[in-house]
Amino acid sequence: MIFGRIKPLDAILATAEKKSLHRSLGAFQLTMLGVGAVIGTGIFVLTAEAAQKAGPGMMISFVIAGFVCAVAALCYSEMASMVPVSGSAYTYSYAVMGELIAWMVGWALILEYAVAAGAVSVGWSGYVVGLLEHALGIDIPNMLVRGPFDGGFMNLPAMGIALLVTWLLVIGTRESAMVNAVLVVVKVSALTLFIVLALPVMNMEKFSPFAPLGFGGIGAAAASIFFAYVGFDAVSTAAEETKNPQRNMPIGLIGSLTICTVFYLLVAAGVVGTVGAEPIRDAGGAALSPGSTELANACRAIGDQAVVCSKEALAWTMREIGWPQIGNLIGLAAGLALPSVILMMMFGQTRIFFVMSRDGLLPAVFSKVHPRFHTPHVITIITGVFVSLFAAFFPVGILADISNSGTLFAFAAVSIAVLVLRRTDPTRKRPFRTPAIAITAPVAILGCLYLFFKLGTETKLMFVAWAFVGLIVYFAYSRRHSHVGLGRVEVHEDDPDAPPQPVPPIN
Ligand code: ALA
Repeated sequence: MIFGRIKPLDAILATAEKKSLHRSLGAFQLTMLGVGAVIGTGIFVLTAEAAQKAGPGMMISFVIAGFVCAVAALCYSEMASMVPVSGSAYTYSYAVMGELIAWMVGWALILEYAVAAGAVSVGWSGYVVGLLEHALGIDIPNMLVRGPFDGGFMNLPAMGIALLVTWLLVIGTRESAMVNAVLVVVKVSALTLFIVLALPVMNMEKFSPFAPLGFGGIGAAAASIFFAYVGFDAVSTAAEETKNPQRNMPIGLIGSLTICTVFYLLVAAGVVGTVGAEPIRDAGGAALSPGSTELANACRAIGDQAVVCSKEALAWTMREIGWPQIGNLIGLAAGLALPSVILMMMFGQTRIFFVMSRDGLLPAVFSKVHPRFHTPHVITIITGVFVSLFAAFFPVGILADISNSGTLFAFAAVSIAVLVLRRTDPTRKRPFRTPAIAITAPVAILGCLYLFFKLGTETKLMFVAWAFVGLIVYFAYSRRHSHVGLGRVEVHEDDPDAPPQPVPPIN
């Protein structure tokens, strides 16, 4: 039966109780955590892609994507506060909708985390390569800094940063609250500087025509720019460490999303109002697709003189409006801050794999822990190799879209799970309750569906193919090895993810 094999919520919670982390985070720290995890490649790089898809109308796209994220975040928080254990959406689904759905969610989360880490690596590369060129005069051939779809052969810096982060994770690096706070200041300062310099020189004529590709373009850009908001789940997974979660959790989530949305809108306005956001079209007048060879060729033909061609949209804009040194400074800020987003994404990925392996759905070797570093090194290295390959060969926009498809699926699943659990287990203690759930959850589900369908056809097909492979793996391996299926519902002594201690024996 599709909804069979539910992992009892009480067994999951027993794990969490053993963990009993100190409740130390307040609303401010949560908001910082959210801003730190969220601001990254989305605003620094994908602004160019959004401009190519929607023109100045991308400002509406930022609002739509932010709104869908906000309603999904409210649902996420109820789950996170009720089931404050590792594995996030995968674990919630296991408890509510059963193993098969949980497996599909976990499988989709691979897209969310690993592919996103690849996307951010490519975004980082664009800024660092631009910085080397403009600040130090080092011109690296496109062949070595762009993937094959983007007019190059392989993106070596993107591959390099992904491998470096993998190594950091293997030796047990986790970002401290202090480092996060510093990087938040770096990112926010860079965006503020951009806004302060760009807004006063805006030319309102650049906003017209506002939606050259209609509302379809605005929706498509929203589906891509959704990436700019991903990462807030870092806030909801900190539920267990939060003081007064009922109050602080929504402040942290909605607060960080609001701060990001305001910054994103101002930055987008700064780009549109100064350098314009006119999409590049083919001879027939159709807008070229971001990340395509056709667009790369069209950009080369105009000497990359359009923001939609830039791999470092904000730095490029600054240089265009006469602030080359500030452009370099923004490049430096992105170069310093984006690796921490890669680290968080890859850490999230290894944690999901770890929990799935501990549940028997993936081979036990995945949850093997390094004797000295106490990290799940095997799965970290496997993840790192894949992330670096994605980063080396695919353009940022394609990776971000694929990642979004997985994230949207997971968000929709969590929103459904919250609704289901309100009916099936109404009396369970909920430290945070989603406000107006009868409206919020359906709006979140519909919003995720809308954005999913606005993704490109190739992305949707890729998602379906990925889901199909997931089903094959499930029925060929996971179903037979599942601990729940074998009747073993274990309560783990150790928290597997913070950071994973020597693994509890699997068999
Ligand atoms: N929201 C994160 C970023 O934009 C994933 O890089």
